[in-house]
Amino acid sequence: MEGEPPQESGLIGTLAAGVAHEVRNPLNSVQINLSILEQELLELLPDRRDAHVFKVLRKIAGEIKRLDDFVSEFLRFARPPTLNLERLTVRPLITDLAAFIAPECSKKGVALDLDLRGPESALLDGFQLKQAILNLVLNALRATTTGGRVTVRTAGDEGCLVVAVVDDGEGMSPEVREKALTPFFTTREEGTGLGLPLVRRIAEQHGGSVEISSAAGEGTTVTMRFPAPPAGS
Ligand SMILES: Nc1ncnc2c1ncn2[C@@H]1O[C@H](COP(=O)(O)OP(=O)(O)OP(=O)(O)O)[C@@H](O)[C@H]1O
Ligand SMILES: [Mg+2]
Repeated sequence: MEGEPPQESGLIGTLAAGVAHEVRNPLNSVQINLSILEQELLELLPDRRDAHVFKVLRKIAGEIKRLDDFVSEFLRFARPPTLNLERLTVRPLITDLAAFIAPECSKKGVALDLDLRGPESALLDGFQLKQAILNLVLNALRATTTGGRVTVRTAGDEGCLVVAVVDDGEGMSPEVREKALTPFFTTREEGTGLGLPLVRRIAEQHGGSVEISSAAGEGTTVTMRFPAPPAGS
């Protein structure tokens, strides 16, 4: 898309992965030592499980887990997977994914609809495509309240497979929309801001693109396009 920051190069990805590994090793050691500490304290204070010190330990453990999750996400982003392209039938791929995410949607009281048209098959990395759609549906779910609706739509357009995730949730202000594809931009306390950049990378690795259409209070549509030459070409 025009005006978007360039994608990270391989060198930056490698450096980032190196830094992330260096953070993760000491982090694991802190985690292990913390649980040893907790264990030993429990032995020293067997009747004081609700003592303040245990709350402090649990808080530290929670923060360590948050950091560790962040590093995992970051690593996933910093090491672009190689694309494994196959000619795949599109519908079963998406109905499988919908079955996987349906419980999460019904838990929130949000309807998940499928509207699947367009090319029967395309050259795709099925795992990556599922990752991209999953990220979009999770974003849509978070933006939607009970009674809302999320639709995964496929269509054909000029030799392309179009995959769109549409929600009728809170939408984005122009400022958020502008920055949404930038790595680490997030408006959520628990967010890493890598979901949409990952979606964009997956689409671009396939030779496709991603586009966001959104307005505050009017929901969001994220549209991915993948080249889908006819079978046998
Ligand atoms: N469907 C949507 N409706 C409204 N806002 C959205 C939607 N999808 C994304 N956004 C906005 O774009 C921001 C970036 O999204 P992105 O998926 O990259 O990161 P995130 O969801 O915050 O964190 P995570 O890394 O866990 O995905 C979000 O924080 C949110 O503000
Ligand atoms: Mg996200």
